[in-house]
Amino acid sequence: MDTKLLFQDASALETPMLAVFAADLSIEKLDVAMPRLLTSPPALITAAQELLGSGEFTGKLGETALLHGPAALKAARLLIVGIGKASEATTDVLRKAAGTAVRSAKARNIRSLAIALPISIDAIQLPPAAVARAVVEGVELGSTDYDTYRSDRKDVPVEAVSLLCPAVDAASRGAAQRGFEEGSIIARSQNFTRALVNEPGNVLTPTVLGQRAKAMADEAGLHCEVYSSDKVRELKMEAFWSVAKGSAQPPALIVIRYEPPTSPSADAPVLGLVGKGITFDTGGISIKPAEGMEKMKYDMAGAAAMIGAMKAIAQLKPAVRVNAVICSAENMPDGAAFKPGDVVTAMSGKTIEIVNTDAEGRLVLADGLHYAKKTLGCTHLINAATLTGACMVALGLINFGIFSNNEAAYEKFQQALSISGEKGWRLPCTDDYRDHIKSHIADIMNTGKNRYGGATSAAMFLKEFAGETPWVHLDIAGCAWNEEKQPWLAYGPSGVAVRSIIEWVRAYAG
Ligand code: BES
Ligand code: MN
Ligand code: ZN
Repeated sequence: MDTKLLFQDASALETPMLAVFAADLSIEKLDVAMPRLLTSPPALITAAQELLGSGEFTGKLGETALLHGPAALKAARLLIVGIGKASEATTDVLRKAAGTAVRSAKARNIRSLAIALPISIDAIQLPPAAVARAVVEGVELGSTDYDTYRSDRKDVPVEAVSLLCPAVDAASRGAAQRGFEEGSIIARSQNFTRALVNEPGNVLTPTVLGQRAKAMADEAGLHCEVYSSDKVRELKMEAFWSVAKGSAQPPALIVIRYEPPTSPSADAPVLGLVGKGITFDTGGISIKPAEGMEKMKYDMAGAAAMIGAMKAIAQLKPAVRVNAVICSAENMPDGAAFKPGDVVTAMSGKTIEIVNTDAEGRLVLADGLHYAKKTLGCTHLINAATLTGACMVALGLINFGIFSNNEAAYEKFQQALSISGEKGWRLPCTDDYRDHIKSHIADIMNTGKNRYGGATSAAMFLKEFAGETPWVHLDIAGCAWNEEKQPWLAYGPSGVAVRSIIEWVRAYAG
């Protein structure tokens, strides 16, 4: 898809479809809706006047109305897209409204459209850079569908989207341009993640994940090494290897490195992005029930998020060193598979009693975190993983879980959320919970002592390997797959956490 930012009057543009946003200016909950267009050309206001006065259109988020042959406009159609209450307008709402516009066009087989940016509008006061960024992100994210392997694929892509910036001062135009470019990079990287998560387990094995990461890195100018069984064993990553050894598919240890254009000082932070890359999770010998098991192809969403974030980082060039470590394997039951009761020694030297082979994510991450810290010298760690069903029970499908051992690192992540528009909620992993993972035979065990606080038990396990290093853990099990399609987003892989991880990284750049 070709996206452009044009500095042009929306009413004078020839296009098959012009989309404009409308907000509800009413204040109180029970007030009658007062929808108003978020654009200023008088010809546009006039074209929408009758519809907005009719009471048929309230302006709520995701609502659309289509007018054909609008008088005094060059556009063949005018699409009005609600963004909800003006008083509650955020960049996130604009992202969703932009996605809604593209998906409405797509559903009508319209290949090209323009969107009037709500910049310099009294009703909503958002900075031009943030508006342009959010709208282009919404366009890129909204335009994709995941019926990838259907022979009767109806998915006719939208080919061109122009964002129209109204006449504003040069500084605002420059800001809009920068926001547009950043948003394009970030959303395309998030879509790269989504495409990886979408792939079935037979297509995307650990080896193929390594190849895709390598191809991305080569194109983006990042260093990338992909190791397999021999290296994993040589490094004494027995926690990782235990999970991998029951599969006919060899594991992949993927290491991607980003160096900023100007070398940071020796004591500058080095960030480590660690991802769980289980390309299929059967549960292993502690096998999962058949129902819903097909979903476990998305158990590599944490890895895909880190690979997508690195793709964006390569282009945004923040002034901070960043390493990504992906531990990818397939968790299978087999004669050679690890078993409940086994005791294994992680790369760090800690011994682990395996109680449940389905708690495999924390095992591969344990060695990934240690490797990032000790071998690559990372001073700050973040990991993402579809780690526990318990986190979904706790937070539903709206917020992912955030855990941290360090207030400053957590604060930076909280800041990142406010820019990315994503939703995460902090859960505890204080030492009060340490006895959840106490084992009789080994240093720790890989499950909690009972079913209570399962997301925290998993976090306590990871915390053992982060040690004193500032660390943020994201449990994205509930958010990595979009179970219900929305007006702005297709059913399927969400690419959650990519945008927030990128912002967390940027927060450490000088
Ligand atoms: N990959 C699963 C977690 C998961 C569940 C992700 C549902 C997405 C949707 C993870 O490896 C797992 O199986 N966790 C177990 C841990 C338990 C055995 C301690 C779980 O959550 O049941
Ligand atoms: Mn599992
Ligand atoms: Zn898993």
